[in-house]
Amino acid sequence: MLGEKHLYDIVMSAAFAHVIPKVIPGYDVPAKEFWLHNIAVAVFGEKIAALLGIEDVDMVYTAGLLHDIGKLAIGSFVADSKQALAESIRTDDMTLIDAEKKLLGTDHTEVGEQVGSKWKLPVPIQYSARYHHNPDELPDASYQPLLDIIHAADGLAFQLGFGNDFGELARRIQPTTIERLGLKVQKLESVASDSLEQINEMGSLF
Ligand SMILES: [Fe+2]
Ligand SMILES: [Fe+2]
Repeated sequence: MLGEKHLYDIVMSAAFAHVIPKVIPGYDVPAKEFWLHNIAVAVFGEKIAALLGIEDVDMVYTAGLLHDIGKLAIGSFVADSKQALAESIRTDDMTLIDAEKKLLGTDHTEVGEQVGSKWKLPVPIQYSARYHHNPDELPDASYQPLLDIIHAADGLAFQLGFGNDFGELARRIQPTTIERLGLKVQKLESVASDSLEQINEMGSLF
């Protein structure tokens, strides 16, 4: 009755919901916010792909759901540097990735890719964890549409208040992504208004 696709989304979401701890220590984010952010990126990603008629992109929903998986893995290590992380971003005007690199020697995208590889997740999921902040650096052009979609969906999530870390005001969708996808503000607005009900519905399920 739900349809295979919707059922798959719910199963993936339910499986993922169980690995989220009550609080992601270093980023000071309650589980619910982390959850809603990932759901928002998954749903926005699917709507952007549909709106742009990009049909041959697989796994947009799952890639959106798991793109910040690295934060789960390093959350407790970031915890000791929480104050310093927030300060670097606010006062030194650093991006989240640069601040993580400075304090930990790595960041949640590098760790996310390694988690994906360790768990033997599909390559597009690993790439999405690794390049969602820097889609221009993707080494395999065949996944460029997927990465641009996830990057745009992540930016849209922050702009609409579904953020999950400190760098919210500094988060922008990169112009190269906007250009490659041919995104217009009106399109993003229609993605947003089409998605909010589904995000809240999924958010309330778990
Ligand atoms: Fe991220
Ligand atoms: Fe994100």
